[in-house]
Amino acid sequence: MEPPEQKNTQAGQSLCSSPVLDYLNQLHQEYTPLNQGQVATYIPELAKANPDWFSICLVTTSGAVYEVGDSRQSFTIQSISKPFVYGLALEDNGREPVLQKVGVEPTGDAFNSISLDPGTGRPRNPMINAGAIASAGLIAGKTSQTKLRRILETFGLYAGRELSLDKEVYGSESETGHRNRAIGYMLRNFDILSSDPMPVVELYFQQCSIAVTCRDLGIMAATLANRGVNPVTAKQAIRGEYVESVLSVMGSCGMYDYAGEWMYNIGMPAKSGVSGGVMAVLPGHLGIAVFSPRLDSHGNSVRGIRVCQALARHLDLHVFNRPSVGGSIVRVRFTAAQRTSSRVRTPEESQALHQFGSQVRVYQLQGNLAFGTMEELVRYVIEGLDCFSYILIDLKRVLTLNESACRLFYQLVCKLSALGKATVFAHAEQLPLLRRYMKVKLEKSFDEQYRVFEDLDLALEWCENQLLETTLPGAMVAHVDEARDYQLFGKFTDQEISVVVPRLKRQSFLKGQTIVKAGDPAGELFFLSRGNVSVTVKMASGITKRLATFSAGMAFGEMALIDRAPRSANIVADTDVDCDVMALDDFENLGISHPGIKIKLLENLCLGLSSKLRKVNRDISVFD
Ligand code: DON
Repeated sequence: MEPPEQKNTQAGQSLCSSPVLDYLNQLHQEYTPLNQGQVATYIPELAKANPDWFSICLVTTSGAVYEVGDSRQSFTIQSISKPFVYGLALEDNGREPVLQKVGVEPTGDAFNSISLDPGTGRPRNPMINAGAIASAGLIAGKTSQTKLRRILETFGLYAGRELSLDKEVYGSESETGHRNRAIGYMLRNFDILSSDPMPVVELYFQQCSIAVTCRDLGIMAATLANRGVNPVTAKQAIRGEYVESVLSVMGSCGMYDYAGEWMYNIGMPAKSGVSGGVMAVLPGHLGIAVFSPRLDSHGNSVRGIRVCQALARHLDLHVFNRPSVGGSIVRVRFTAAQRTSSRVRTPEESQALHQFGSQVRVYQLQGNLAFGTMEELVRYVIEGLDCFSYILIDLKRVLTLNESACRLFYQLVCKLSALGKATVFAHAEQLPLLRRYMKVKLEKSFDEQYRVFEDLDLALEWCENQLLETTLPGAMVAHVDEARDYQLFGKFTDQEISVVVPRLKRQSFLKGQTIVKAGDPAGELFFLSRGNVSVTVKMASGITKRLATFSAGMAFGEMALIDRAPRSANIVADTDVDCDVMALDDFENLGISHPGIKIKLLENLCLGLSSKLRKVNRDISVFD
């Protein structure tokens, strides 16, 4: 479902409008009277802009778009094109070759200064015109047309729509761009541009003349905030690994000789343009764009700067003013002594798990996994090394993980494996980076050491089974041949057994077969002789959830004995299954012919149900 688009060109607030939109409207009203600054005229076509144009756009990384004022008014992107072309140059060449041609140091000079490194002739950074022209020279493509097409396509991915050139502005800048041509020849002189510089300078004029709106810039900024993925279209505009480089130079150089004051007062990587656009990025959170053509002496939009200052101050957006994220990723932690899987256990197995279950430690994680947040988990695990044999890490509520988190997981898996301990993951499929990382690093031991299960319950059952094999060898019943060994016939005399056996009929089911269907009338009680069955329900989300798994010696479908209500869940054979089945009518008749046996059956049934209820109570107590 598309996130909400909040557009309100009309001033004023209503009860049903978003407080975010109300606030942007309020800012728009507050700064509309601010008419300091001059519209750029050194590119003649830019002088035609309406000095009163004014819009603000805020876009979140979840794709919500808030826009007020002239947010659909077209204008040329100008220098705001520079970070996007720089990112494309990084993708086309990699960091080192680009660093050979363009530095990353702020100059404190104006945008059009001919500021080259005296020794190498390398432009100091990609945000000044010299660095931007050098970046344009690094775009892959056999012809200028191909390069321009790639730039337009890339910008379109950032904006979420097809963009085009404003030919009038391009023509106007090409006719008057003598200074930039001089910069081009300087770059050729130092072999930063290795051939005729004029086509590259023309390409630079074209990139600056791409027509955008304030809304486009807001979405482009949010794409950078969202690690290169457009939050509205979900399309990748730039490889995530290069976003940090683009934002770094925007943070240190994007506002030219105002960059220091900008980072001090506003604190977000940003870029301005002489058409009057300003774009700012709060990584991981949002993008901001302001459009108002009147410029200050630095070539930055006067209203743009003031609105960004207000937003940063009122919304606490300063990149260095971030809440701590540490201590938050471990949502829940427990052991198998406190909470077991939905696999129904015999009294002996339950006792063993209660006694030794602390050897299985479960951590349910949440949020974003990175070094800063993962350190807490690693510390917990290492501190308890002597107390457990199995670590189960549930990733169901994890939003993202980066390479440093993968590395820590890998190191944990290896360390624990060397100590004879197992690491098990649940819901890992939603984090493909982890699987890719483990596949590469674990190599041949990947299948053995990278254990993943589709959900926490199955992973917990595996750990329990491993633990029971060592603490209660041979106790896990594979099959039951004698009726006396069924749990519901516990404490029956031989004579009582001889009464019930004729009432049992053998039935077999194949793996995957539905034995009981939710909603069906209840007519039988099942005694499991061989194999496993699981009770499942379909959740509102459509996912099938396992409620319980029964093994040999256990009974299922017994609730019908009490209320004769229709079946409340499906029961499916997990393996090939043999059962002894008692018809409910036979059970009812027992009450007439052998009331004592029926009472015993009901007593054993109540014992089983109370044990299940106690387990549910324990499980609930683990999750707050
Ligand atoms: O090269 C120029 O002069 C323009 N095409 C772009 C300058 C610009 O946007 C400076 N930013 N404030």
